[in-house]
Amino acid sequence: MPKHKLDRTVIAGATSAIAREAARVLARRNASLFLVARDANKLEAVAADLRVLGARAVHTATADLASTTAHEQWWPEALALLGEPDAILIAHGILGDAGRARHDAAHTAEILTTNFLSAAAMLAPVSTWFEQRRSGVIAVIGSVAGDRGRQSNYVYGASKGGLDVFLQGLRNRLFHAGVDVVTIKPGFVDTPMTAHLPKSPLFASPEAVARGIVKAMEQGRDVVYLPFFWRWILWVVKLMPEFVFKRLKT
Ligand SMILES: NC(=O)c1ccc[n+]([C@@H]2O[C@H](COP(=O)([O-])OP(=O)(O)OC[C@H]3O[C@@H](n4cnc5c(N)ncnc54)[C@H](OP(=O)(O)O)[C@@H]3O)[C@@H](O)[C@H]2O)c1
Repeated sequence: MPKHKLDRTVIAGATSAIAREAARVLARRNASLFLVARDANKLEAVAADLRVLGARAVHTATADLASTTAHEQWWPEALALLGEPDAILIAHGILGDAGRARHDAAHTAEILTTNFLSAAAMLAPVSTWFEQRRSGVIAVIGSVAGDRGRQSNYVYGASKGGLDVFLQGLRNRLFHAGVDVVTIKPGFVDTPMTAHLPKSPLFASPEAVARGIVKAMEQGRDVVYLPFFWRWILWVVKLMPEFVFKRLKT
């Protein structure tokens, strides 16, 4: 028996390949959805697909989710159109160009703002609303990259690591109100974000990761690695002492 029903769910970053697959799982169960994304055409295509799959209602809002104030527009709209949401999934993000971020302050700020600051900012009103409702689930897509800084992508890693610590505190706060906060930590997923990377057996499909996300949200889990084996990989990675780790070419 699932702990949380996801009948009315808000999805920020709804055109993401992973979020889109999660929305499809919910649409097949006749859920009502409120989707937020920046590209109106892509968003309409996603919404049309979800309606065909059986969603009871699909509402949409366009917003630049790199903004730390855009939620002032769409969150009240979500409440007005959806009624009382049971859940929110925050999925938007950019990988960025790690090489460029090494020397380009604006790009560093863009990655940190899109992946961390905007999510933290929207969670101020969203978390307070759920706290007052005294039930529901807040899920955010982080990354295994947030578990340890590596030379190859530490700006992206820091944005997800910041999110991880933020969500730990939020989980601790909202536990006392009966609200669950789920940190999703995928490994490599075959989506447009990783289209330029050579594929390996470590890559998971967005469909499989989405199924894991929906299950974790229903169960109100704390931290979920997807696929599960990344928990053990990161356990080893985190065990390594810093004086050893800094010498690796990772
Ligand atoms: N793919 C992986 O290997 C992997 C691994 C770990 C974690 N993740 C995380 O999973 C989440 C989903 O990514 P994905 O793999 O599904 O990749 P994706 O398909 O490229 O999705 C990224 C989404 O973020 C949206 N986005 C980026 N900047 C935005 C902005 N300023 N305003 C509004 N939307 C914005 C994109 O919108 P557009 O559609 O308009 O571009 C897109 O919908 C991200 O948080 C990512 O960091 C991915």
